[in-house]
Amino acid sequence: MKIIKTKDYNEMSLKAASMIAAQVILKPNCVLGLATGSTPLGTYEKLVEWCNNGHVDFSDVVTFNLDEYLGLDPSHDQSYRYYMNNNLFNKINIKIENTHVPSGVTTNIEEECANYDKMISDYGGIDLQLLGIGHDGHIGFNEPSDHFEKGTHCVTLTEETIKANSRFFESIDLVPKKAITMGMLSIMQAKKIVLVASGDDKKEILKKALFGPITPKVPASILQLHPDCTVITPISL
Ligand code: PGA
Repeated sequence: MKIIKTKDYNEMSLKAASMIAAQVILKPNCVLGLATGSTPLGTYEKLVEWCNNGHVDFSDVVTFNLDEYLGLDPSHDQSYRYYMNNNLFNKINIKIENTHVPSGVTTNIEEECANYDKMISDYGGIDLQLLGIGHDGHIGFNEPSDHFEKGTHCVTLTEETIKANSRFFESIDLVPKKAITMGMLSIMQAKKIVLVASGDDKKEILKKALFGPITPKVPASILQLHPDCTVITPISL
């Protein structure tokens, strides 16, 4: 695992965006795994800027997002489809039909999850996966558990995640209690992983994930086993 310590959030975003841009330039039809949350916003801003000034071309890129809240439709301003459209997809020259986010309003969760995994594998897997990390160590919405879940699945969010994400909702009661998330297999099979983490409130969990025992109780700790994982962070570890 490679750790790049940056001077601040902006430099973190610049470096993460540079790695994604390099991936797209080297393989214009690459498959990107994308993340939501506040941490990658600066990364997406940079990619929008570079696309708009002609430096990066997303016209053949395919994307798969990590997760979606169950019960929120794409027009809900806290759904991850809405976030992706507004912060990235609608601002770059990607074909919207090449972008994938699990459906939060599916009537058949099992089928949705199985299809999601099949689509990823039909595209040959993910070339570069961007990740954030939750305060409880989650990646995607793979919450602490007694085992690592392989496939895309439905998950009950922890109190900690619900509390952390309530900052985006009018009240904590409006935060969905469940989500669909990509599992560990698609994430770990990504050829390259870039994890961004910012804010001193992430320091303890980041240390545990990077240097502690590999355990499903700290889901991000599995990344220690990945052959090409880069952590970009302004946090002093
Ligand atoms: P954040 O979320 O970037 O909003 O802190 C990270 C995550 O939960 O994965």
